[in-house]
Amino acid sequence: MTPNPTDYQAFSYQIIRWYRENPRDLPWRNTLDPYKIWLSEIILQQTRVAQGLPYYEAFVKAYPKIKDLALAPEEDVLRLWQGLGYYSRARNLHFCAKSIWFDLNGKFPASYAELLKLKGVGSYTAAAISSFAFGEKKAVVDGNVFRVLARYFGIATDIASGAGKKEFESLANLIIPTENPAEFNQAIMDFGARMCVPKNPACDSCPLANSCFAFQKDLVSSLPLKINKTKVKERELHYYVIKCGNQSVWNKRTSGDIWEGLHDFPQEGIFSINENEDKGFPKPESIKVYPKKYRHILSHQKLNAQFSEVKIPDEKTAELAQWCVNQGLLLVEEERVDYLAKPKLIVNFLNDTKI
Ligand code: ADE
Repeated sequence: MTPNPTDYQAFSYQIIRWYRENPRDLPWRNTLDPYKIWLSEIILQQTRVAQGLPYYEAFVKAYPKIKDLALAPEEDVLRLWQGLGYYSRARNLHFCAKSIWFDLNGKFPASYAELLKLKGVGSYTAAAISSFAFGEKKAVVDGNVFRVLARYFGIATDIASGAGKKEFESLANLIIPTENPAEFNQAIMDFGARMCVPKNPACDSCPLANSCFAFQKDLVSSLPLKINKTKVKERELHYYVIKCGNQSVWNKRTSGDIWEGLHDFPQEGIFSINENEDKGFPKPESIKVYPKKYRHILSHQKLNAQFSEVKIPDEKTAELAQWCVNQGLLLVEEERVDYLAKPKLIVNFLNDTKI
């Protein structure tokens, strides 16, 4: 169904009206600083407003200007991002800050087209920054917007397909009013996040219900249509928590797999206690399997993790340290563990187990 101009003018008018009547005071809405808006949008792609707020505040406090982020060690940026998941977003954030600071003389790109050239910035983020910071008429299309448009206008195109994404983007760009496009963008996202939510939306109190296609045809629970093609694979992880005195052995993950740049423990496969005896691995005093198993779900993998504690006698510290150097592993003192950037799964384990 192609809406006509009267339909979409009425739609944008009502969405904006709802937004004005239901304001939310969010810090990134009180600024025109593209750097802060960019930070907030990258964080909010990862989590909801309530969980994202403390991260936003921590980033702005630690790195008030783009220069501060550009000059920060990657390690610190990842540590601050810890818990949000999808760490490539944090790495791209850092990469972009450096390229804006060093290659663009610190001048934040000021148009949709220029913003799109940044690493990790797609049409959604470019539209958000260019409209919120520079008033450009570019429609944001995130999960909230897909849902609101699919339901209101009755669009049953798969939102996971390239064609679907294009269709929704064209419609959103047709609907967005010339006057204050930023307010419309904030309004439609907020409406999707607070009223037209995925499950049990507030249709009873929705000011758009009378003209909403899905509501009228009883299709609210069927729209939007998303055909999930991503194959999620199960993966087993068996970690060795190697302890010696007040130190433990850590592995900084490299590229080509999940959690690049984050720290976890050596794993079976990379490391096998028996085989390593002849590679200078000191003889353990004890080995015990922690009974609790951990499950962690990523976008493409379901992880099942188990941990074993391997205790090395204190007097073998030097031997262990040498083995770590040979294996490219880190021997870390207890007080330093908190400062390492770690995946949520490892943080969960540490919260249960004092190491
Ligand atoms: N989600 C994504 N961007 C947002 C914003 N600017 N305000 C509230 N929620 C959002």
